[in-house]
Amino acid sequence: MTPIPDSSGAGSPDAHSTSDRPGHAPHAGAEFVVVANRLPVDKEVLPDGTVHWKRSPGGLVTALEPILRQKTGAWVGWSGVPDSDDNPDIDGIDIHAVPLSSQEIAEYYEGFSNATLWPLYHDVIVKPEYHREWWNTYVEVNRRFAEATSAAAGEGAIVWVQDYQLQLVPKMLRMLRPDLRIGFFLHIPFPPVELFMQNPWRTEIIEGLLGADLIGFHLAGGAQNFLYLARRLAGQATSKGTVGVRSRFGVVQVGFRTVRVGAFPISIDSGELDTKARSKEIRKRAAEIRAELGNPKTILLGVDRLDYTKGIDVRLRALSELLAEGRVDPHDTVMVQLATPSRERVDSYVQMRAGIEQLVGNINGMFSTVGQPVVQYLHRPVPRDELIAFFAAADVMLVTPLRDGMNLVAKEYVACRSDLGGALVLSEFTGAAAELKSSYQANPYDLDGVKDAIEAAVNQAPTEGRRRMRALRRQVLTHDVAKWAESFLGALSATPTTTASADRGVRLVPELDQDE
Ligand code: ADP
Ligand code: G6P
Repeated sequence: MTPIPDSSGAGSPDAHSTSDRPGHAPHAGAEFVVVANRLPVDKEVLPDGTVHWKRSPGGLVTALEPILRQKTGAWVGWSGVPDSDDNPDIDGIDIHAVPLSSQEIAEYYEGFSNATLWPLYHDVIVKPEYHREWWNTYVEVNRRFAEATSAAAGEGAIVWVQDYQLQLVPKMLRMLRPDLRIGFFLHIPFPPVELFMQNPWRTEIIEGLLGADLIGFHLAGGAQNFLYLARRLAGQATSKGTVGVRSRFGVVQVGFRTVRVGAFPISIDSGELDTKARSKEIRKRAAEIRAELGNPKTILLGVDRLDYTKGIDVRLRALSELLAEGRVDPHDTVMVQLATPSRERVDSYVQMRAGIEQLVGNINGMFSTVGQPVVQYLHRPVPRDELIAFFAAADVMLVTPLRDGMNLVAKEYVACRSDLGGALVLSEFTGAAAELKSSYQANPYDLDGVKDAIEAAVNQAPTEGRRRMRALRRQVLTHDVAKWAESFLGALSATPTTTASADRGVRLVPELDQDE
C-alpha cells in the first residue's frame, strides 16, 4: 500500500494508471467498494464481555445495505466503538473495519463531522464550532480511510465514497490509486455559498471532493451550490465571463480531468417494505399496537434519530397548541414518538434531548388522563418489523424537519400503506418534499401552518386520503433504492477514464445533462 503524502490533500491529483507503468503488478481486491464512516453494523460489547453486532443507525445504512447485499463487494467503515478492528461476518459483504481511537472519535466524528459540518450543512440550526485540532484529526482520519480503501480495492475498481465525514477521501484516494473510478455521494444537504464560506477549510473540502469522477447530491440545488463553489474556490472562471450552469447536471473541468456533478435523489427498498407490510404477521401486530394504545381514533407517529434537525420539538409544540385550542381531542388521540439515541456526547444533542423530554412531560401533564398518556415517547431504536407495524398502524405520520437531505422515514411510511390509509405531514425543507407532492406540506418555522397541516391530515375524508396515498405510492414504488444506485453507478461507469493531468485549474463547462 502506498502511503498518502503528509498534507490535507492539497495539491493536484497526479493521475496516471499504475497498470500503465511497467513492472507494476495489478492490485488485487474487490471490484466494488463502498466507503462510509459507519459499517452497516454497530459493535456492542455487553457487560459480560460478549460482542453483539446491531444494525447501524440512520438512512445511509438503510439505503446502502440492500445494494451491497445484491452486488458483491467490500465495505470500508468504522464499527462505532473505540479501537476495534474486528471485521464482522456479514453474508455477501467483505467488511474492512477502520479502527478509531477515543480521541479520534471525539475530534473527527463528534467534533468536526457532527459539531462543525453537520450544523453548517443544515442551515446552521445550531452554531457550528471551528477548531483546528478537530480539522487536523478529520484530515488524519480521512487519510486512514483512503489508505484502507486503497488496500481493499482491486485494479480499476469502482469505489463509492459516502457522506460528509469523508469529503477528503476522493482526492487522497486518487493520489494513491489513479486507476480507480471514484464516486462520491452526499447524504445531507449541500449548503448555499453564504454558509459554506464560513468554513476555514472550505477550499480543501471542495478540492477533496473534486478528486471524484462523479459527485452526487440529493437535489439539483445542492449540485448547483457545489458547482458555484468549485468555480469560486478551486479554480478560475473562463475568459468568457460567467458560465451558465445546468441545474440538474454539470461538469467541472480539472485540467484534463472531468468531474461530473449531478442530482440523484435517494430512496428505499420500497418493494421489500410493501411486501412485509402486507404480511399477516405485520397486520396482526399493527392491530395489537392500536389496541395497546387504547384503540384511539387517531394515532399520530414520529420516527427519527433524536436530532435537532428533525423538528421533533416543532410537532410537539404544534400538537400542544392544537390540544389547547380544542382542535384535537386528547381523549381519542395518541402521539407515538420513536426516537433513536444519536450522537449522545455532542452538547447540542444533550440539550435538545432535554428540551424534547420536557415538552413531552408538559403535554402529558396538561392533557393526559391516568393510564392514558397523550404522547408515548420511546428513546430507543425499535426492531425493523415492529417499526413497519407502527407505520401500518399510524393514521398520520409527522415528518417535520427544519432541514433534511432526503428523509427516508417519509418514504418508508408510504411504502407500508398498501391499504391506501394514513396521511403524511411533511416539512417543505426535506429533500422528500420535492417528490412527495401529495403529502400535507408545511413550513416547519410557521407553527400555524404546521398545525393546519396536522389538522387537515387528521380530518381528511377517506376518498381524499386514498387519492393522496395512491399518488405518493406511485412515486415511492417506482423510484426505489435499486434505481437510485443504478442511476448513480451507471453515470459513474459512463465517466471517461482518468487522463494524465497536473493542472489545478477548474473550469465549469455549461454542457451535459444526465439524460443526454
Ligand atoms: P437520518 O438518515 O438522518 O437518520 P432518515 O429518515 O433518512 O434520517 O433515515 C432514518 C432511518 O433510520 C430510517 O430507515 C428509519 O426507519 C430508521 N429509524 C429512525 N428512527 C428509528 C427508530 N426509533 N427505530 C428504528 N429505526 C429508526
Ligand atoms: C445520517 C448521515 C449518516 C449517518 C447517520 C447516522 O443519515 O447522513 O452519514 O451515518 O445519519 O448518524 P451516526 O452519526 O450515528 O452515524
